[in-house]
Amino acid sequence: MVASPVNKLLVGTAIALLILPAAAWGDGFQLTMELERGVPARASLEALRTRDRARHRRILQATAPSSAGVVDFPVEGSADPFTVGLYFTRVKLGNPAKEFYVQIDTGSDILWVTCNPCNGCPSNSGLNIKLESFEPEQSTTSSTIPCSDQRCVTAIQSGEATCSSSDSSSSPCSYAFQYGDGSGTSGYYVSDTLYFDTVIANEQTSNSSATITFGCSNSQSGDLTKSDRAVDGIFGFGQHGLSVISQLSSAGVAPKVFSHCLKGSDNGGGILVLGEIVEPDIVYTPLVQSQPHYNLNLESISVDQQQLSIDSSVFATSNTQGTIVDSGTTLAYLAEQAYDTFVNAIITSASSTQVKSFVAKGNQCFISASSVDDVFPLVSLKFTGGAVMTLKPEDYLIQQGSVDNAIIWCIGWQKNDGQGITILGDLILKDKIVVYDLANQRIGWKSYNCSQSVNVSTTSGKNEYVNSNQLDTSASSKYSKLRLFSTEGFILLVYILAAAALL
Ligand SMILES: *[C@@H]1O[C@H](CO)[C@@H](O)[C@H](O)[C@H]1NC(C)=O
Ligand SMILES: *[C@@H]1O[C@H](CO)[C@@H](O)[C@H](O)[C@H]1NC(C)=O
Ligand SMILES: *[C@@H]1O[C@H](CO)[C@@H](O)[C@H](O)[C@H]1NC(C)=O
Repeated sequence: MVASPVNKLLVGTAIALLILPAAAWGDGFQLTMELERGVPARASLEALRTRDRARHRRILQATAPSSAGVVDFPVEGSADPFTVGLYFTRVKLGNPAKEFYVQIDTGSDILWVTCNPCNGCPSNSGLNIKLESFEPEQSTTSSTIPCSDQRCVTAIQSGEATCSSSDSSSSPCSYAFQYGDGSGTSGYYVSDTLYFDTVIANEQTSNSSATITFGCSNSQSGDLTKSDRAVDGIFGFGQHGLSVISQLSSAGVAPKVFSHCLKGSDNGGGILVLGEIVEPDIVYTPLVQSQPHYNLNLESISVDQQQLSIDSSVFATSNTQGTIVDSGTTLAYLAEQAYDTFVNAIITSASSTQVKSFVAKGNQCFISASSVDDVFPLVSLKFTGGAVMTLKPEDYLIQQGSVDNAIIWCIGWQKNDGQGITILGDLILKDKIVVYDLANQRIGWKSYNCSQSVNVSTTSGKNEYVNSNQLDTSASSKYSKLRLFSTEGFILLVYILAAAALL
């Protein structure tokens, strides 16, 4: 979503850290001093926190199986806060069709793209993508949704649209999504054609389309005006009536389930399908009902198989508490009352090994010459129904730099200051299959190598699709690719990573 430093400078700083003489890192005090010097350019944890904080305020403010095919979207971007820090896809809208880069955001509902004219929209992006703007009057299929339209009336009721008393029935149906720090977007709703690839069982994807309602933003403020991570808009995957998944599933065009497998490595990329990724051993937990977001019931946290002594009421869902799955958050946030207990347990566990720990800019960091998997504990999150999410060190630590053969790791989970909300962001969601089974109101996951192919289905487990693990690693391909094999009734998805597309 919103910007935070992404540029080659960061790489430069990492190298600077690397070539510092080992002696400078000899004792704890010097180490901290060097980090004070070294971290700032690479220090975007702070900037990321600020960015994430802004969107969390928005989160807090926000108030059918079918014969459909599996809809496949390309995925680009990564969870790494020092390279990209967001996952995005491309959508084609209008006639003639134009392509837009939009952040994949399970923490909000609306698809919106930058429109022309736009006040405060960035004109270029540090992500090396060409920004576009949607021009309703240039598309032969577009129409503006007026205040009198039933879609607008419904959206007003759910707080996703506004029409003032001075508006006439033909005035455009407007929206304004505000962020707590003043950043935000506003515009009006349009209806136009969305093109997408549908996976069909006989060797091909078909070029499908559907008419959808989405936002045409003509004003941005705050971080949304910044260029460094600018994309053309946000693709909300929430379950409100106006989200694209809701629109397509109620039209019978897509199933009432979607899944992602976001690749964690630097090159990023991954899989995003409107459909169900079918894999053995996916564990499910029910969605908490009547919540504006994808809320899960977290019950406890264990470090090294030792359950932390955190009162379970800390995790109960209310207006000010609860656990949200949000692909639009780069890092992860832990409820304030649980945070220190968690960090202390990591320190205690790691202290039995050859790890030096220290605090830099308020973040708990470590220096370790060994592989993280050898020295840091596994963490598990236990949810209602016994579903456990097992997290590796890479799911809670972020590499901040290195010196000699040692690597500086900092805890990437942030304390959600003053709040009882826990947010499972990209740091945690990456390298996992995550299934949002809206028909059955549950979310499932399984650790997975997202470079590999997956089996997908349009219904809950009825049709199984086969894949063979053939990967075409052609580096010339800029984007994720989808390939189908013609085994009767089977679908094979093979993805090529978006290597080098962004860097
Ligand atoms: C699919 O639709 C888009 C949008 O009109 C068009 O640009 C593209 O050429 C179509 N592809 C095929 C294979 O028909
Ligand atoms: C993930 O899968 C890819 C493709 O099969 C493979 O090259 C890579 O080594 C795997 N990564 C891990 C960590 O197993
Ligand atoms: C896909 O499904 C087939 C048939 O059930 C199975 O043999 C295969 O291992 C699955 N592949 C993956 C990647 O899950």
